[in-house]
Order: sequence, then structure tokens, then C-alpha cells
Amino acid sequence: MKKSIIKSSGMFVPPNVITNHDLEKILDTSDEWIKQRTGIEQRYWIDEEGVTGSSDLGFEASKTALDNAGWEPEDLDFIIFATLSPDIMFPGSGCLLQAKLGLNSTPALDIRQQCTGFLYGLATADAYIKTGLANKILLVGAEVHSSGLDKSTRGRDVTVIFGDGAAAVCIEGVETEKKAGVLASALHADGNFAEALTVELPASRLPVRLPPDVPINDARYYPVMDGPAIFKKAVRMMPRVIKESLEKAQMGLDEIDLIVPHQANMRINQAMGQFLKLDNDKIFHNIQKYGNTTAASIPLAFHEAMEQGRIGKSGDVVIFTGLGAGLTWGSVIYKFL
Ligand code: UT7
Repeated sequence: MKKSIIKSSGMFVPPNVITNHDLEKILDTSDEWIKQRTGIEQRYWIDEEGVTGSSDLGFEASKTALDNAGWEPEDLDFIIFATLSPDIMFPGSGCLLQAKLGLNSTPALDIRQQCTGFLYGLATADAYIKTGLANKILLVGAEVHSSGLDKSTRGRDVTVIFGDGAAAVCIEGVETEKKAGVLASALHADGNFAEALTVELPASRLPVRLPPDVPINDARYYPVMDGPAIFKKAVRMMPRVIKESLEKAQMGLDEIDLIVPHQANMRINQAMGQFLKLDNDKIFHNIQKYGNTTAASIPLAFHEAMEQGRIGKSGDVVIFTGLGAGLTWGSVIYKFL
């Protein structure tokens, strides 16, 4: 039976580093508050003068992933693009990326799963491979948050955590009897908590998407978040969904080499580790450098964990997990071939 194998990865962040001290200059916050509450020290934002969309960041990450796989864009038979910050309202960033890769008929699917975009994307890629619908898939997570953040003190709880960035993986269906590749996925959503993290405008459900009576700096144009509520949900649901995927794969936590979680808040991931009674070195963190890059965060962490040699040997087992807007949450277990 075919197994879904991650052949390679790539990442890209824009060159503009924004430190916590830079944010102190534009809104009422402090380096100490941000580091202590989130672990974040800096993030990357696109250049304010430039014209850079999620597909541009995704394109750079994809080029590296394709190079590392030894694939040409023409080798791809499917593209999955995960973002909550598409370049434009429509068409999706997957189509824009496809054209940038020089392609003109490869199918491109956009998914809007926010922080769990990589998890939903990996499970989708696995299903496509196992049902024979595709065999060489490019999965991209990319976000440009910075052009949509409330850079006044009103939005400080959200604005200090989000960063721009992209990461991509090449996934291939490989015929092998070995227990390898995507071993199990567990995905969930609860739309009853949609308002816990949302951007309300522009909205197609209104007679006019950009209501003329709403000033352009209205809070509804920016992400609003019930941070403490999401924090509590994440700490409760991530250990639970990890156990669910372990049961599906008939594995124990002691067989896992590294957990590569969504990078929303270092304290969330540390609390998850305590719930699971795991040593801190079993959980990968890079939120210090990038902040929360939403759909890009898990593949970006995966790419860095590989570069640092933390994972990548034949037989290594990784759990990807995360929770975010939707709410959506999930976990995927992956074993290196
Ligand atoms: O990836 C998407 C999913 N999102 C998440 O997983 C985020 C989950 N939530 C969190 O990470 C945390 O809730 C935050 C980092 C967003 C906030 O941390 P917190 O410890 O939950 O703080 P809080 O919202 O309870 O606010 C505590 C205080 C408040 O002041 P008062 O009312 O105690 O005087 C806030 O106004 O901290 C204040 N505050 C800030 N102060 C300085 C909120 N944001 C900031 C800020 N700088 N940036």
C-alpha cells in the first residue's frame, strides 16, 4: 500500500525583522510582557512599501521545498495552499502560486483552516495519495498577517503575537510495506466558538461588504481574540487529540521522538507537555523568532527541527498538533521512512 512520505521542506520569511522593542514604539506594550506571556522575541513582517501576498511568500518556500525534493513544478499533480490571509478575496492563493510556479493546469486547492491548515492539509494529501487521486503533492502554509493587524494599543493582544511567513512540504506516495509516512490523523472543529478569534469585515453576508458607515479603522476590520478562552481550550484539547491519534496509530507516547506543535504561545505548548508528562526537549519551539505564523507555523517548525537534526532519521516519529480559529484542532502522526 502507498504511504504518504514527506520528501522535503522549505521555508521563507520576509527580511523585515520586528523586535518587541520595535512594537514598544508604536503601541503600549513591553518586551518583558510579550516574552513572559508568549515567549516571542521577534517576528518578521513584510515591507510596508512593498506588494507581497501570501502566495509570494509561499512561492519562495515552495521553490526551496521543490529543490530539496529534486522536483520540477511540472512533477506536481496537486497543490494544497493553507492560509487565512489570502492575497485577494478570490481566486485563492493556491491558484496564484500555481501560476507563479509556471504551471497552467495542475489542480490547486485552498483551505481556510487557520492554525490547523497544515494538519488538515496533510490529512487531505494523505487521503488523495491513498485513494490514488494524486501522487506528488505540494502542501504550503503561508500568511501575511502584518497588513491586517490593528497596530494601535486597542489591538495589542493580537498584534504582538502574529508574524508573516511561509513553509512548504513535498509529499509523495511511496509503495512500501513498512509502517511509515502519515500513520494517523485526528481532526476536529467547533464553529460555536467562531467568534473567539475572528475578523468580521469585509463580510459577504452584509448587503455591502465594506459598509460605508463603518470607518476604516473600526475594530471589526481587525482580528479580535478571546485569548484566555483559546488558551484554555488549546491546553485541554491538544493533549486529548494527541491521545486520539496515538490510539488510531496503536502507538504509545513513549514511541514519539518529537512533538511539533503550532506555535501560538510557548506557555500553551509547555502546559501541553506537563499534561502529557513529557520532558521539555520532546516539544519543539521556535515561536521566539517568528511569532505565530498560523498556517505556516507547523511546517516552519518542522523544517527547522529537520535542519537542526532533531528529527529526520529513518524510523523517527513526529506528532504535529495545534488548535486555533474556527475553532479547529487536530493532530497527525508521521514516521520517517
Ligand atoms: O494561533 C491562534 C490561536 N491563538 C492562541 O492560541 C492564543 C491564545 N492566547 C494567548 O496566547 C494569550 O491569551 C495572550 C498572549 C493573547 C494574552 O495573554 P494573557 O496572559 O491571556 O493576557 P490577558 O488577555 O488575560 O490580559 C492580561 C493583561 C490585561 O491587562 P489588565 O486587564 O490585567 O490590566 C491586558 O490588557 O495584559 C494586558 N495586555 C497587554 N499588556 C501589554 C494584553 N495584551 C498586552 C500587550 N502588552 N501586548
